[in-house]
Amino acid sequence: MAQLWGGRFTKETDQLVYNFNASISFDQKFYKEDITGSIAHVKMLAKQGILTEEEGKQIEKTLGEILAEVESGSLEISPKYEDIHSFVEATLIDRLGDVGKKLHTGRSRNDQVALDMRMYTRNQVKETDGLLKELLETILKIMKENTETIMPGFTHLQKAQPITLAHHMGAYFEMFKRDRGRMHDIYERMNYCPLGSGALAGTTYPLDREYTASLLDFYGPTLNSMDGVSDRDYLIEFLNALSIIMMHLSRFSEEIIIWNSNEYQFVEIDDAYSTGSSIMPQKKNPDIAELVRGKTGRVYGALMSLLTTMKGIPLAYNKDMQEDKELSFDAMDTAKGCIALFNGMLATLSFKKENMRLSANNGFTNATDAADYLVKHGVPFRDAHGIVGRLVLYCIDKNCAIDDLSLEELKSISPVFEEDLYDAISMETCVNTRLTIGAPSKASMDKVISLNEAYLEKN
Ligand code: ARG
Repeated sequence: MAQLWGGRFTKETDQLVYNFNASISFDQKFYKEDITGSIAHVKMLAKQGILTEEEGKQIEKTLGEILAEVESGSLEISPKYEDIHSFVEATLIDRLGDVGKKLHTGRSRNDQVALDMRMYTRNQVKETDGLLKELLETILKIMKENTETIMPGFTHLQKAQPITLAHHMGAYFEMFKRDRGRMHDIYERMNYCPLGSGALAGTTYPLDREYTASLLDFYGPTLNSMDGVSDRDYLIEFLNALSIIMMHLSRFSEEIIIWNSNEYQFVEIDDAYSTGSSIMPQKKNPDIAELVRGKTGRVYGALMSLLTTMKGIPLAYNKDMQEDKELSFDAMDTAKGCIALFNGMLATLSFKKENMRLSANNGFTNATDAADYLVKHGVPFRDAHGIVGRLVLYCIDKNCAIDDLSLEELKSISPVFEEDLYDAISMETCVNTRLTIGAPSKASMDKVISLNEAYLEKN
């Protein structure tokens, strides 16, 4: 047991209590942020004359050494300390004696941990954004290669209208683009420095909070010290954004699982991203996609957990807030891992274009266009809908597509049909006459692709 606060106690802490209270097993994850934050604090203390220049230099140098040693593995973070803050301060005091004891002047662990967690999360936001960008690049590549790859679009998991693979992929591009937008928003809102908030009420030392904020790349200091130590909104926002990312990945995974099934055979997952069965030799399972889908629940769990932890906490700091870490770290690692793996799986996925095309041909995906053909020839839409409905029934009976019928058969159902119907309801016509922006035609998709290309260049 190694604590910073024994003075007013007459008894040792019970070992179980100590263990229950300690956080070093998980808060050592932000040793770097803790030491960097301390270096900024000490620079500011020296600049303000709260420490002498010499004291400031000595502490800064030793903190730098501690960081380098932890980083290289030559200094082990000992679990005998209560938390990472105690470990760093105690190591400093070991090396510098009384001078080391001055580091914590004008600071509390409350603003210290608020700073550490914020810096750690800020970095995670950036890393997540970088991974999302890589995923977007993979998606855009697939889009570029597949503006003419016809496939069925679905509603209710029933074939609906023909689209292209570029168009389908484009839907996910928009989702992950919004996810990046959320990363940006969170960063902008969270990037204010809580250091200097003290325990809750600031301090009596003449701290320069603007200075520490700028040393640590924040836009400025937080403007209320009670909020500074007890705000975890940014973390809730990040967990929320991670949950939305996981929801998107999970939907995409679900589609890949369906497309990879024996019944669909739209895609084949690369061997490197599939696993086998211990009993059934023929199996090649989409485990990675299933795991991504499965891990979504874990990330949602972290969000629910933190929302619940925070809901009853009176101002300002309370120890409940220590619970902000473990599940958040897990959610961050899980989401980042999932984005990276999913990206690898997608980049190596092979698309069975003939099967997609065949499936679009065989599912009456051009029925809407057949009705539109009649409308263009003067039939009211509701009547056209009925005529094509009967046409579909006739085809189901004959086990064929609308385009397989002879003109005679077509005319027996409606005399309005002429030879040009075949062209009007070909898959290519169905797709390429949908010309509005956002629609699947090659012309529309080419525009969207170049807009998204410009977006990736800029962001
Ligand atoms: N381990 C604590 C946490 O994560 C650090 C802050 C401790 N502050 C205190 N007043 N006990 O929240």
